[in-house]
Amino acid sequence: IAPRLLKEKCSLLHKVLALDLEDVVLSPTLAIHVYTDREVHGTVGSKVTLSCTFWSSEWISDDISVTWHFQPEASRDSISIFHYAKGQPYIDDVGAFKERMEWIGDPRWKDGSIVINHLDYTDNGTFTCDVKNPPDIVGKSSQVTLYVFEKVPTRYGMVLGAIIGGVLGLVILVLVLAYLIRYCWLRRQATLQRRLR
Ligand SMILES: *[C@@H]1O[C@H](CO)[C@@H](O)[C@H](O)[C@H]1NC(C)=O
Repeated sequence: IAPRLLKEKCSLLHKVLALDLEDVVLSPTLAIHVYTDREVHGTVGSKVTLSCTFWSSEWISDDISVTWHFQPEASRDSISIFHYAKGQPYIDDVGAFKERMEWIGDPRWKDGSIVINHLDYTDNGTFTCDVKNPPDIVGKSSQVTLYVFEKVPTRYGMVLGAIIGGVLGLVILVLVLAYLIRYCWLRRQATLQRRLR
């Protein structure tokens, strides 16, 4: 059994080594990694930050570019909404975000984040952040899905809760007061009766 075990161990070791070697050989030394949240939630009228950071094996180049795409929930097509290149941010002149978008990133600090203002109920969809840092251009983009919720139900719920809470508090207060008054009145009656006797 022992030799067989040894053999298995050897083949396992071999496999591990081979895998490692494959990784080193196959994955290019140049690779850029882009990170976003998976999901972001917002309420109608509020704003939301779509953060995008990245890691590059290279120094940040002057030719670094950041691109944001948007694909509405109900659509198959995605449109480019933002582009950063040659040190300049460009907000695309099409789409629903052109007047509501803000660039807050700074590629020198590996930040490609944007802000969407005045969220609308129909903004649901997927945003894709893509970064290229030549010569480091191999890598996957990252996606974040935005869900916009109506503000009214939570507000309505909170108002309703406050009203119910207020009414309950008032009822309790009145009950306690009534009880106290009754108690004092009864005591007084008792002392009065005692004095009369
Ligand atoms: C956006 O997503 C939220 C959460 O899933 C949903 O409640 C809402 O109805 C969606 N809006 C539209 C316009 O489909």
